[in-house]
Amino acid sequence: MTRANATPPIVELQDAEQRREWQKFTLSDLPEMISAMHVCQSVHALSVTPLLERLRNGPRHPANGLLDGIHPDTGAGFLHYLVNRGILQREGEEYFLTQLGECLTTDVSLARLGVYVEAYGGVTSRIGDLLTGEAVYGKDVVRDGGPLGAHCATLFSFFHTPVVLQAMQGRKVKRMLDVGCGGGQLIVDACLRDPSLTGVGIDIDPDAIAWAKDLAERSGVADRVEFVVGDAFAPKTWPAVCTEADGLCMMSALHEHFRHGEQAVVDLLDEMATMLPQLKIMLVGEPELRFDGRENDDDFFLIHVLSGQGIPRDRTAWFDVFAKSLLQCRQVFTRPGAGPRICFYDLAARPS
Ligand SMILES: C[S@@+](CC[C@H](N)C(=O)[O-])C[C@H]1O[C@@H](n2cnc3c(N)ncnc32)[C@H](O)[C@@H]1O
Repeated sequence: MTRANATPPIVELQDAEQRREWQKFTLSDLPEMISAMHVCQSVHALSVTPLLERLRNGPRHPANGLLDGIHPDTGAGFLHYLVNRGILQREGEEYFLTQLGECLTTDVSLARLGVYVEAYGGVTSRIGDLLTGEAVYGKDVVRDGGPLGAHCATLFSFFHTPVVLQAMQGRKVKRMLDVGCGGGQLIVDACLRDPSLTGVGIDIDPDAIAWAKDLAERSGVADRVEFVVGDAFAPKTWPAVCTEADGLCMMSALHEHFRHGEQAVVDLLDEMATMLPQLKIMLVGEPELRFDGRENDDDFFLIHVLSGQGIPRDRTAWFDVFAKSLLQCRQVFTRPGAGPRICFYDLAARPS
């Protein structure tokens, strides 16, 4: 007896309207965007589980400990997905990071990703509620200060500390105050590189200050630095340790004060300069927003809009602000193409 044909007939339907609708979706780039979103979440997941460390240093074999502490089925499927996405390569039973996987998981890449996924993820996932007023930033929704401090610290150490140290050269600063210090990396790095330097950091976020204190302990400079919780934008409330400084820096924090208008920033600059006439350096580092869509420009803009912060500006706009203050900008340090776009403004009292 002959068996029935194993392949059933295929009926191909053609529907112009359905085709058009699907084309809109495929031409929109959304398929790639959805994939990119999941790659971001997956790379972040790699970094917050033991998986990344194991993929870097072994064990790389699931039966040999790669998936210890990880749900076995979910873990196996996740590895499969990462291979499909070209992030891992499988050889026999072992998994390795590909070159793409290595680039995605450098300290710098993970810090950039962490700012958006970990520190601001809870904000960007509530855009609708923030728009309708269902949620209010600062009350129902806040960025996560701990991870923000930690990720900014990684980026700072790599890209900004060398610039700040160069700017400080020859100024003979003995006690540096970092205003809006976040995770405290700058003060810790500066103290590590100059054994005669002491430092103070002030930040409004207790989690960031806790991170900074821990970093100082781990780095062996806790006896030369102090980190305090306080309002950077209210210098009159600063504890005495802050006002004893003979050097001041303020990195990626001052623009937040634009939320109270430009004059508030001018007043704050004047207040700091008047309160601390002994300053040998006053260095303001500010991210440059150029609205040219490069290097996550728009993402950076969005998180500032959603979190009710003042919006960062480009250097020309900052020159206008300084011109209204008692300060003049002596020089600007930049390092184009190497790190987050940021200008370091070297400010000093205007000669009377
Ligand atoms: C983008 S982070 C920069 C942190 C650090 N300076 C850096 O560059 O890595 C901005 C910091 O300013 C702090 N900040 C914002 N408003 C503040 C205020 N009123 N007083 C003190 N710190 C403030 C935030 O808590 C946050 O740690």
